[in-house]
Amino acid sequence: MTDTPRIVPAGSLPELGVVPEQMHAYAIRPERFGPPRSSFALEELPVWDLRPGEVLVAVMAAGINYNGIWAGLGKPVDVLAKHGGDFHIAGSDASGVIWALGPDVHDVDVGDEVVVHCNHLLAPGVNERQLIWGYETPDGSFAQFARVQRQQILDKPEHLTWEEAASYGLVYYTAHRMLVDRAMLQPGEDVLIWGGAGGLGVFATQLCAAMGARGIAVVSSDEKAKLATSLGAFATINRKEFPDLQYRDGMTETETRAHREAIKAFGKRIWDILGEKKGPDVVFEHVGKSTFPASVFLANPFGRIVICGATTGYNLTFDVRHLWMKQKRIIGSHFADADSAGRANRLMMQKKIKPVMTQMFSWNEIPEAHQAMFENKLHGTVSCLVGSPRAGLKNFDETRRAHAKAA
Ligand SMILES: NC(=O)c1ccc[n+]([C@@H]2O[C@H](COP(=O)([O-])OP(=O)(O)OC[C@H]3O[C@@H](n4cnc5c(N)ncnc54)[C@H](OP(=O)(O)O)[C@@H]3O)[C@@H](O)[C@H]2O)c1
Repeated sequence: MTDTPRIVPAGSLPELGVVPEQMHAYAIRPERFGPPRSSFALEELPVWDLRPGEVLVAVMAAGINYNGIWAGLGKPVDVLAKHGGDFHIAGSDASGVIWALGPDVHDVDVGDEVVVHCNHLLAPGVNERQLIWGYETPDGSFAQFARVQRQQILDKPEHLTWEEAASYGLVYYTAHRMLVDRAMLQPGEDVLIWGGAGGLGVFATQLCAAMGARGIAVVSSDEKAKLATSLGAFATINRKEFPDLQYRDGMTETETRAHREAIKAFGKRIWDILGEKKGPDVVFEHVGKSTFPASVFLANPFGRIVICGATTGYNLTFDVRHLWMKQKRIIGSHFADADSAGRANRLMMQKKIKPVMTQMFSWNEIPEAHQAMFENKLHGTVSCLVGSPRAGLKNFDETRRAHAKAA
């Protein structure tokens, strides 16, 4: 029988099913709140005890998301105050191997290769009683072991590496939910996608193409335009050509006029792209304050503005006349549930949607990876290795062999 180790080195694993007492993890604590470079720190922490309906996942790779940045900043929400823990382990995306089963879990096995969706349920099936795992719960994926509910487990697409499989969940399932379930996108419709080469945007762009809609991806560089085009964008617009389009609090009268003109010029560009005098049927929003007035103005009559975030500020100002006179709708959307995440993951397994992992980081680079996202220096999605000893591994057998070779 194997002795249970107190802890194993980062980037290695004990024998399948053997759970060490402690694990290496990146912890956020209130005294370190601030930019990611300072808020994420390596610690040794106890491996989670499992409650009924939970499983322990040995994390092979983890995806980097914006919510790790929010958690580390401690604002607008202090997530530690919310979940009541002493520390917070961020990370809402993981690929890995089921390592232990909690009470009442019977339909998955130790050794199963999985990806995790981040909808942690407080009550079965009721979407408004959800928490975002790894943001509103303290047990996320920037650790050797993560604790998740059984219902968060999805099959890992076999054709993807651990790092690819960890890269897409949160943003892809969110984008899928926004367009498919909330905005009810129809074939033939036109969609304006802010941040069309960002985390959410690369999947919104692909989904539009897959669903027969025309996605216009807004980007801020030629490199990002190239990426969006390669993912099936019908057209791209570089927002740097329209600097006055950005809304800011306290704009002077002259600036307000320039802002209005910039939005109109942007709308004219959309008409030129579409070859008709119409706006987008759906505006894919997550930028918030800076772009929201433009989103409401630009949407076609009866159009939908679907929003899941507000990177630039959540107190939104817009001219509501454009909303009521043209009978437009604003639709809120927040992540996804097991059903819609499962539907989206099936498209990934069928290779109809592909991951867009533009960069991979090592375990030691997790704070820097978040810092780069914080500074808008990344595009697509990025992930980092946790238990997988190197890039390119796709399953546990390969991983075990790579560990043995490295030992
Ligand atoms: N509620 C949910 O379930 C949920 C899920 C996922 C994400 N979110 C939120 O959604 C937001 C975006 O997430 P993400 O992962 O896609 O982030 P990301 O990878 O950083 O991409 C965001 C994109 O927004 C664009 N952008 C940034 N500032 C802008 C501005 N001032 N004007 C226009 N565009 C701007 C950038 O594209 P360009 O510079 O190329 O234009 C950037 O690529 C975050 O606030 C996140 O917290 C919410």
